[in-house]
Amino acid sequence: MGKRVLVVHGGRFGQSAKIARAMDEVLQAAGLETEVTELGRSTAVDPARHDALLLVTSVRYGYFDRNAYRLVERHRGWLESAPSQLVTVSLTARKDEKRDPQEHSYTQKFLAKSGWPGAAEVVAGALDYPRYRIWDRLAIQLIMKITDGPTDPTLSIEYTDWQQVRAAARRFAASAAG
Ligand SMILES: Cc1cc2nc3c(=O)[nH]c(=O)nc-3n(C[C@H](O)[C@H](O)[C@H](O)COP(=O)(O)O)c2cc1C
Repeated sequence: MGKRVLVVHGGRFGQSAKIARAMDEVLQAAGLETEVTELGRSTAVDPARHDALLLVTSVRYGYFDRNAYRLVERHRGWLESAPSQLVTVSLTARKDEKRDPQEHSYTQKFLAKSGWPGAAEVVAGALDYPRYRIWDRLAIQLIMKITDGPTDPTLSIEYTDWQQVRAAARRFAASAAG
């Protein structure tokens, strides 16, 4: 029987979920069995049913979802021996040179604080001004202004590099199958 991967996605505006689904397709094509679920307080790894974990979650004001920390904490023992892949979704990563996980400060902070034992990948998310509430929009506009990004509040732009996403999924599929 194929190895079984639990695919967990966090996020709020659907980009982490979309990335998780794209990776899930690659995992299935590689012969793995998968289960896709949302990151939540009750997110549970079942060691009897899961052999590997893929976690896709976005950065919000510099922070990871606290449920991501809980997930690692709760399943630390299992994670020490099961293949795992973290995918950080962020807007700073819209620039190629900001996708090195070693250099991505939010990811580094999460790895250090949570003790995540597996691999890490950083991918670009989406900018979707029309869907943000006023304060979020203003904050993102300010961040974009500082980092030379678009500030036009009518813009929705997907920065995700799908080739990068699928390549990361193929690498993880190989390690999960092994
Ligand atoms: C309120 C808010 C705060 C954000 N803060 C950050 C941030 O601090 N750093 C960053 O790189 N991206 C930040 N982003 C960008 C998100 O990570 C990006 O939009 C991502 O695609 C959201 O994923 P989701 O659709 O799964 O929620 C922020 C986005 C929003 C809406």
